[in-house]
Amino acid sequence: MYQIRKATMDDTQIMYKLINTYADEGKLLHRTLSSIYENLQCFYIAENNGEVVGTVSLHILDKDLAEIRSLTVSDHHFGIGIGKRLVNIVINESRSLGVKTLLSLTYQVDFFKKCGFTLVDKSKLPMPKIWKDCMHCSKFSNCDENAMVIDTF
Ligand SMILES: CC(C)(COP(=O)(O)OP(=O)(O)OC[C@H]1O[C@@H](n2cnc3c(N)ncnc32)[C@H](O)[C@@H]1OP(=O)(O)O)[C@@H](O)C(=O)NCCC(=O)NCCS
Repeated sequence: MYQIRKATMDDTQIMYKLINTYADEGKLLHRTLSSIYENLQCFYIAENNGEVVGTVSLHILDKDLAEIRSLTVSDHHFGIGIGKRLVNIVINESRSLGVKTLLSLTYQVDFFKKCGFTLVDKSKLPMPKIWKDCMHCSKFSNCDENAMVIDTF
């Protein structure tokens, strides 16, 4: 049985592995173990019979803008709605925190469209705040990710 819950320290090794396996494939940004520890309260995981099978985190960028980060689902569990549930929990948390817009920088345009996100022009976003973390990315000077947003209210 699948459930979504807040991450705990016991989950961090497998979270690290899931996130960085996809990061090695260029699908999202790498996370160090210490960055997972430091931001643990921002993470949710999907669990199936005690096994961590998905991750997501919410990162607040500004008064009205938060970013969904480190979204993963283990490939054995693709296509059964876990990714959408992880996105929805972050949308709901953004709403309950009073953050109006949730951003994703992503290659998974069709998936995020299914979750209600729309494509926006990156130049319309407050990029200095977003780029603070992008500076650690190998594609920083040549970013080809898509910016997608959803209104949480
Ligand atoms: C993207 C990802 C999180 C999707 O997870 P998932 O659990 O397989 O997705 P879901 O089952 O919740 O799919 C929700 C909907 O999106 C669709 N969908 C899922 N992946 C898709 C894809 N790659 N392209 C197009 N549509 C996709 C599903 O068919 C489903 O459609 P429906 O609502 O009409 O049935 C998962 O493929 C993944 O972890 N990928 C590798 C890491 C990654 O790219 N993360 C995103 C970083 S921004």
